Amino acid sequence: MILDIINKKANKYELTKEELETIFMGYLNNEVKDYQMSAFLMAICINDMSDSEVFALTDIFIKSGDILDLSFIDEIKVDKHSTGGVGDKTTLIIAPLVASCNVPVIKMSGRGLGYTGGTIDKLESIPSFTVDLSEEEIKKQAKEIGIVITSQTKDLAPLDKKVYALRDVTATTNSIPLIASSIMSKKIAGGADKIVIDIKVGNGALIKTMEEAKRLESLLIKIGTYYQKEVRTVISNMDRPLGHNIGNKLEVLEALEALKGNVKGELLTLSIDLATKMVSMGKGISEEEANKEVKENLENGKALNKFIEFVKYQHGNIDSLSIDSKVYNIKANKSGILKDINALSIAKLSESLGAGRKNKDDDIDYNAGIVIKKNIGDEIKEGDILASLYTNIDNPNFNLDGIFEIS
Ligand code: URA
Repeated sequence: MILDIINKKANKYELTKEELETIFMGYLNNEVKDYQMSAFLMAICINDMSDSEVFALTDIFIKSGDILDLSFIDEIKVDKHSTGGVGDKTTLIIAPLVASCNVPVIKMSGRGLGYTGGTIDKLESIPSFTVDLSEEEIKKQAKEIGIVITSQTKDLAPLDKKVYALRDVTATTNSIPLIASSIMSKKIAGGADKIVIDIKVGNGALIKTMEEAKRLESLLIKIGTYYQKEVRTVISNMDRPLGHNIGNKLEVLEALEALKGNVKGELLTLSIDLATKMVSMGKGISEEEANKEVKENLENGKALNKFIEFVKYQHGNIDSLSIDSKVYNIKANKSGILKDINALSIAKLSESLGAGRKNKDDDIDYNAGIVIKKNIGDEIKEGDILASLYTNIDNPNFNLDGIFEIS
């Protein structure tokens, strides 16, 4: 039976929901083996899925675990997801910004696997910050301050988690239908009414081409329509890192600077764009009106105050946020114009400094990371500092190949 299903996909036939359920739920229950699921996932990567197969798979993922009930909050709940990028600390900026506009943000986030940390790792880099909240605590905090970011309390979409871990080690991460059902199942199980998705495209992202990004965008919106959940998207560049800081505590510091009004460029514009969409959807107002409110709350300090309130509420000590590590400055070996900063190479360097984890139980060094000192287009003189590297690894051996392109 399982072999028939794998064969059917390998021969480009459309599968029924029952067949998808048999193989995927069989995998969750350990009846289907890793090698069988690996072959099946590869067949999907090569032969794609129809829209109805994607809807069915999303449903199977959702129903494999709990569904969070956020109905105790009267307002519309808008969640945000990023397909993952280097230096992407937008959640830390957007969540308090949106909450300061009176749109509640209740977010379940994860730890990162791979080159950089996830939102929970970033928040855990703040001394004493608590990420494991009970359902009661989440409810109380949501009612009192309108913003909660916590690690998953319930077992949301456990099948996606198991399948994703296998995709990660079988070169099957970049299938558009698998990505779409994975993202949407978690957001829907997480209780969101409306969803904003930041689709990253470039060498430092899962999605490498604009064509794939457009296909993903269309599928995410279709799944949203199927579940009667409005989905809006932004497609953003990930050929270069987002902002200047990469690494957990360094990213919190940069987010704080953004909330203080000291950050410009792509990190700021993308954060404003995503927050605008969330506020527009949460309040049912136009993006023009939402954009005005978002910019006002950045300028008048309300977003910053909300961030401070949020960190204090979750017991974090934002005043003692200093970087405790050795610093190595990387200098330019020639003069010219800085043409490019390669996101993927920066991510690999950041991991080698201790800021990421290869296995899910690895320790992460919250202080490790990179601060990029120059912008693309800057004129560089030989000997200028291009970046500062922070690490606690003794005698580190940096691989700087292909990071900065100067000509
Ligand atoms: N993000 C997810 O949650 N799942 C994917 O498959 C890819 C990106």
